[in-house]
Amino acid sequence: MNALAKIEKFQSVGQTELKQAPAVWPVPAELPAISIIGLGYVGAVSTACLAGLGHRVIGCDVDAIKAQQIADGVSPIHEKNLGEMLKEGVEAELISATTDVADAVSKTDITFVSVGTPTSEDGGCDYRYIVSAARAIGEGLRRKEGYHVVVMRCSIPPATTMNVMVPEIEAASGLKMGDDFGVCFNPEFLREGTAIEDFDNPPKTVIGANDERAADMLAQVYAPVDENVILTSIEVAEMVKYVDNVWHATKVCFANEIGRVCKPLEIDSHQVMNIFVQDTKLNLSPYYLKPGFAYGGSCLPKEVRAVAHLADNLGVETPLINSLAETNDKQIETATEMVRNSGGKRIGFLGLAFKPGTDDLRESPILEVINTLIEEGYDCQAHDPAINADTRVDNQFSYVRHVCPHLEPVVNALPNLLTDDPLSMIDDCDVVVVTQGGEKMREIVSARFGRAKIVDLVRLFDAAPEVATYEGIGW
Ligand SMILES: NC(=O)c1ccc[n+]([C@@H]2O[C@H](COP(=O)([O-])OP(=O)(O)OC[C@H]3O[C@@H](n4cnc5c(N)ncnc54)[C@H](O)[C@@H]3O)[C@@H](O)[C@H]2O)c1
Repeated sequence: MNALAKIEKFQSVGQTELKQAPAVWPVPAELPAISIIGLGYVGAVSTACLAGLGHRVIGCDVDAIKAQQIADGVSPIHEKNLGEMLKEGVEAELISATTDVADAVSKTDITFVSVGTPTSEDGGCDYRYIVSAARAIGEGLRRKEGYHVVVMRCSIPPATTMNVMVPEIEAASGLKMGDDFGVCFNPEFLREGTAIEDFDNPPKTVIGANDERAADMLAQVYAPVDENVILTSIEVAEMVKYVDNVWHATKVCFANEIGRVCKPLEIDSHQVMNIFVQDTKLNLSPYYLKPGFAYGGSCLPKEVRAVAHLADNLGVETPLINSLAETNDKQIETATEMVRNSGGKRIGFLGLAFKPGTDDLRESPILEVINTLIEEGYDCQAHDPAINADTRVDNQFSYVRHVCPHLEPVVNALPNLLTDDPLSMIDDCDVVVVTQGGEKMREIVSARFGRAKIVDLVRLFDAAPEVATYEGIGW
């Protein structure tokens, strides 16, 4: 069973099931002792804050000066209140520090790893510090008895914990993950400058684990500041950290492009964005943030073009906004390639409009896919619950012909492709491309599941079916 499958049984969002599960392992009489490897921005703050929760903490760093500073209760970095907290921890005899990582590991129950993960020469991740930390952890585990939890906190490419760190620990310790020690990935979301405040009021606490005992021990450490930890697999947790930061960077660049466009227009960008952020239904919300098919319809493509054009006329560069059409086209190409790779020749489309509940075909991205496939000789049919023989689509056809003249083949073919009978269409096809979600589509697909290959562009089912005849566009 792979790591992702193993976690499935206790994968949950919010209150974890683990807390209700009967404890089958010995619960430590006192709070577990924690070693922290790497005393930089993350490690130094964790040392102070975990001691603040009452844990005995041993900080470790290969840099003897940093280790000495922590041992003296002096902050090695500039961070509000950190010096005071470290001093209190040292005075309470909860904080100590060393350069001997293996020794620290052998004297504790949980090890947090927060060594640096700089960019390597090829642009990837430099694993050097992780590997040396993992070897030292292995040595420490060899010297100790009892179960131990290793908590990875570094920002790393997905699968690094399992493929890089765990094999090194197992090789150095001669122990087996799952039996002798557990591993969690616990991404760090604290902002420099307000890190201690954020530790006490975390935006979220994510624990990636494939071992219930390890996840439970770590959840108990965080319980005083966050009772609602989010439990998931190690790989999802690793990816979450990257996705968060890429999203933050995207937001910064987006807001800055809006500022650059607003300024020459003498429009106050801060007023614009203050109004923008008040929309938590569509703007700052899960809406539009689920991987799926390309954007389309009568508004988004037109207005993205309009803002790019406006910026161009103003002599303002907006590379992020300008790149949207390109990344959208990539998604259309990806969907087309999935159909080609399926090996089928008779293709059925469930949904023609850019979203369910409308007969608006203007700039519906699936028309691009169908157009390409028709030109390549595929035999296409389509069903859309909102479009039938009586639907007046002539005006839309003239719009499509005007805005996207290259779509002439699909516009001409559409009247003959449309069917009112989706089940017969599926019976007749090698591949069915699902372009709209909703109960109706789920019923149609479920009624004929396994008949034709499914190319799902909308994540029709919460859990993607794990069968060879099903493929999702981004999952
Ligand atoms: N700085 C942040 O705000 C932040 C936030 C979230 C995640 N992260 C991630 O956390 C990790 C640590 O970041 P940081 O900013 O604290 O790094 P940092 O460079 O400030 O500190 C890393 C420390 O690890 C020590 N170290 C390296 N190898 C070691 C080893 N084998 N044994 C013991 N100590 C060792 C170094 O001497 C250094 O003091 C990185 O993966 C980073 O991407 C950082």
